[in-house]
Amino acid sequence: MPSGHLKNIGPSQLKIAIIGTGYVGLVSGVCLSDFGHDVACVDKDETKIARLKAGEVPIYEPGLDALLSRNVAAGRLSFTTQIAEAMAGAEAVFIAVGTPSRRGDGHADLSFVFAAAEEVAAALDGYAVVVTKSTVPVGTNRKLADIIRKARPDADFDVASNPEFLREGAAIEDFMRPDRVVIGAETDRAKEVMTQIYRPLYLRDFPIVCTGLESAELIKYAANAFLATKISFINEIAALCERVGADVKAVANGMGLDGRIGSKFLHAGPGYGGSCFPKDTLALARIGQELAVPQRITETVIAVNDGVKRRMVQKAQDLCGGIVAGRKITVLGATFKPNTDDMRESPSLTIVPSLIGAGAQVHIVDPQGRREGESLLPGVIWEDDPYSAAAESELLIVLTEWNEFRALDLKRIAQGMRTPRLADFRNIYDRKTATDAGFVAYDGVGR
Ligand code: UDX
Repeated sequence: MPSGHLKNIGPSQLKIAIIGTGYVGLVSGVCLSDFGHDVACVDKDETKIARLKAGEVPIYEPGLDALLSRNVAAGRLSFTTQIAEAMAGAEAVFIAVGTPSRRGDGHADLSFVFAAAEEVAAALDGYAVVVTKSTVPVGTNRKLADIIRKARPDADFDVASNPEFLREGAAIEDFMRPDRVVIGAETDRAKEVMTQIYRPLYLRDFPIVCTGLESAELIKYAANAFLATKISFINEIAALCERVGADVKAVANGMGLDGRIGSKFLHAGPGYGGSCFPKDTLALARIGQELAVPQRITETVIAVNDGVKRRMVQKAQDLCGGIVAGRKITVLGATFKPNTDDMRESPSLTIVPSLIGAGAQVHIVDPQGRREGESLLPGVIWEDDPYSAAAESELLIVLTEWNEFRALDLKRIAQGMRTPRLADFRNIYDRKTATDAGFVAYDGVGR
């Protein structure tokens, strides 16, 4: 699509339906309404829709509640359980339902996407672009088109792939100021509608990458797998740093300043988690195996990440002289990263049960993780205050780098502990600071 052509398109408000009010659907719906479009978000979950109608945001995402209220008040954003109501007159329908890893084989489970496609097919009235936001394996958009065509041979529609690259905790910023928008569309009509949708971004010169369907689908997997690779790479280098006496922070800094490498996603830690990297790396590996084009780097990245989590358990045990049984361990952070309440695939879900399994008594402080974490981490005692949680404990583990944990009075913490030992798995402190504060043992990652 030539850029000059796009710029000539005048402003117009589109009517958009979003199927699925999970993380991606909700953020996309709210942000698209903020672009000026008329957006209706649909979900089967009546309680969720009732809460959203009452202005309650069911997830923790900074800034989302204010943006939601503003657009509801402006009459541009609504919520419903009725797909036909949301789709009446809609020029675009976004499918943003979950694609979890299928149990057993790691394939993306597309049952929700296909079910949504059937419902969209039934409700199509007039031309609409059916846009896939959910992360789906290569070829899914064509399958989706087949499903709709089969269900409604008379329907006038196109499909488009529009993968999301939203980071939890920074999702609004990522939507409003993206590195790029990827649009996989193959007809002029579909391209035109997608262009209108993203017009505000286009006008501010954010790159819009227009491709075919398969390329758009693959961009998402390749980007996430590459970022996961960077993390696994630095985590392996971190282990080597420990052996040779190097500091991984210095190594990452020295590497990252090479513009071809870049400094982002080179923070060594307890392994990547979240709703995307684990699922998407696994799905990419499966796609490769299925098509006999093995994605060996991605397969290794997955294995390395599993190993990193186990290595953290070993480090914690080593700090305690090999014995954690009967000892109180305080863990700071349970979510897979800060500024989210999301516990999906969090390293804590591997590390904490291992410690409990070895007989430790684990107390956790997390600003947002408790609600989800309580059922996922049985046997844990949840606390609100790092200082009282650390009292009488024999090891303090930093697992998630929440701002709240970055500037603790380490001296006060150490004084309260039975044996002040610090496992700093996000490298937010350093050995000297810890030792000066009275810690008798310190271990970070790669230092
Ligand atoms: C990610 C991608 O960034 C986003 O573009 C995609 O669409 C969805 O997946 P998100 O899962 O929200 O977003 O989190 P992100 O900030 O990317 O972090 C993922 C995991 O990697 C976290 O567990 C984080 O702690 C870890 N990480 C990240 C590191 O261990 N080191 C780093 O340098 C960066």
